[in-house]
Amino acid sequence: MDVLICSGLAVLELLTFQSSWELDSPSIFKRFFGLIFIQYACLKFHRIVIYPNFFSTLRHLPGPKDHNLLLGQEAKKFKADGPAAVQLQWMRTWPDAPFIRYISFAGKEVLLANSLAAHKAVLQTHVYDFVKPPFFARLVGEITGVGLLFSEGEAHKRERRLLAGPFSVPSMRKLLPVFRTKARALSHVFEELLAEKQYATLEAIETFSKSTMDTIGVTVLGIELDTISSMYPLGFLELYNRVLHQGFLGQLIWVINAFLPIRSIIPLEANRKFIQTTADLRKMLREIIQQRTTDLANETFKRENGESRDLLTYMLEEAELRRQETGKEIWSINDIIGHLLNFTSAGHESTATTLAWSLYVLATHPAIQDRLRLEITSLLETDQEPDYDSISALPYLHNFVREVLRVYPPSYMAQREATRDLVIEGVSIPKGTQIDLNIPLVHQHPLIWGPDAPQFDPDRWDRLSGDAATPFAFEAFLQGPRTCPGRNFALVEVKTFLVELVPRWHFHGIERRGGELLASGEERLGKGVKLANPSLTYRPADELLVRFGRVKKLH
Ligand code: HEM
Repeated sequence: MDVLICSGLAVLELLTFQSSWELDSPSIFKRFFGLIFIQYACLKFHRIVIYPNFFSTLRHLPGPKDHNLLLGQEAKKFKADGPAAVQLQWMRTWPDAPFIRYISFAGKEVLLANSLAAHKAVLQTHVYDFVKPPFFARLVGEITGVGLLFSEGEAHKRERRLLAGPFSVPSMRKLLPVFRTKARALSHVFEELLAEKQYATLEAIETFSKSTMDTIGVTVLGIELDTISSMYPLGFLELYNRVLHQGFLGQLIWVINAFLPIRSIIPLEANRKFIQTTADLRKMLREIIQQRTTDLANETFKRENGESRDLLTYMLEEAELRRQETGKEIWSINDIIGHLLNFTSAGHESTATTLAWSLYVLATHPAIQDRLRLEITSLLETDQEPDYDSISALPYLHNFVREVLRVYPPSYMAQREATRDLVIEGVSIPKGTQIDLNIPLVHQHPLIWGPDAPQFDPDRWDRLSGDAATPFAFEAFLQGPRTCPGRNFALVEVKTFLVELVPRWHFHGIERRGGELLASGEERLGKGVKLANPSLTYRPADELLVRFGRVKKLH
């Protein structure tokens, strides 16, 4: 766009200031391109240096001023110990500021929301005055599809209404047995790993990733993927992982493509592989949808107790019902693929990371582990297969899971862009401004959670007061109309897994590669495990090796 404007200006200048014989001379091209270059350089200089430092209405807001001319604060963010480390430092320097301003790439000004009121305004009061930044939608959307994650405005409201059913409490009651079956399959894997030994080691991130993908297979796609029993993931998960975990070159092309559409013209193997794999993944989903449509029409789709429990079947049945009522299609096959990709990616990695962090905390906090086990075993003594209500009623388990999500929020970052000029908390925000919502900033804010905010303490949930007792103090699933629709799903799944695993398995500690025990005891929490940075999720940089053994029965 900038190049077009500069070219247009160059033509106007030549027509205005050159006589007609000069326009015919061969040197006119040199002048034309020279003018474009000079104007483009001036425009960029204005955008990167002059405007943010001397004219922007945001320039007086609190925030770091030591930015690099081209990289802004980004290099510092990438080099930090964790994906929120630099932002947490800024929060501690300016704890009272509703917004902290920093410079990102090429002079771009970004506002970091730093108070509950600012978060509430962006996520609730003005939620539809913001959209996800287009570059982010292009970047992540290439993998997750449009679906709910990247639909906006009226389209988003409509999709949320249409998809509310599968995530209601009655639906969660029906899903609980699926979570239990998958948790038992995982317990079986623990059994095999341990065999006759006193203790063994499991890699928590990948193990839970397989388990939660199996859960998503049944609950979203209505098929058994059975990845947990295979040490070599095949089919769906393999394709999915190839798309998600590309090599360095693949990632580079992925990021550049979000700014400059180069995907279709780059003749490199990494690029060809990505295109092929995403096409294969979509083809596989298309085939699953077509097969299910046929099975539903022929009434050959097998249901448990006459009920469908998965999202795909729900969507196809809902679409058929609306077609009969109104004669209109509510979803095209590509819309359905988008939703399936959304729910698969949003629902599997974040839940797996929550379970992995749960094991990390249990392995490094023996007292918490004992207390949680006691609560669960007391329930199991009277009820071997507790239902939704009994599991939801366990107070310590509820506090534990919320505390894991407060200290280690897997989806730690959301970004928004203002679609019009706004005033929030007395700050005039021009249209186009990017707002960062960094969840650890809220979860570790001393003015909200007190001076002990970074410490892991499940009991804090029993004595909430002041700002900590308000909904926006806990944003692991965000809040407002764009809050995670899978919140209840994730909480029930994590709790059901813990109810199955904690009474049977004892978590002794975290190991380094080679077997040395790294962290045991509360004081080591947070010091032993390096966080991945840069990363889309809040997760350990390397493997998370948990040493476990059988729980000794007390007689
Ligand atoms: C512990 C597990 C989970 C966490 C921490 C989590 C967190 C989040 C967060 C923070 C968002 C907001 C993202 C944004 O607006 O930028 C979100 C959105 C979303 N999540 Fe989750 N999620 C979890 C599990 C799930 C599950 C299990 C599902 C589905 C099966 C799911 C489906 C979605 C979808 C579809 C959206 C987009 C919602 C919209 O934009 O309206 N999530 N999630």
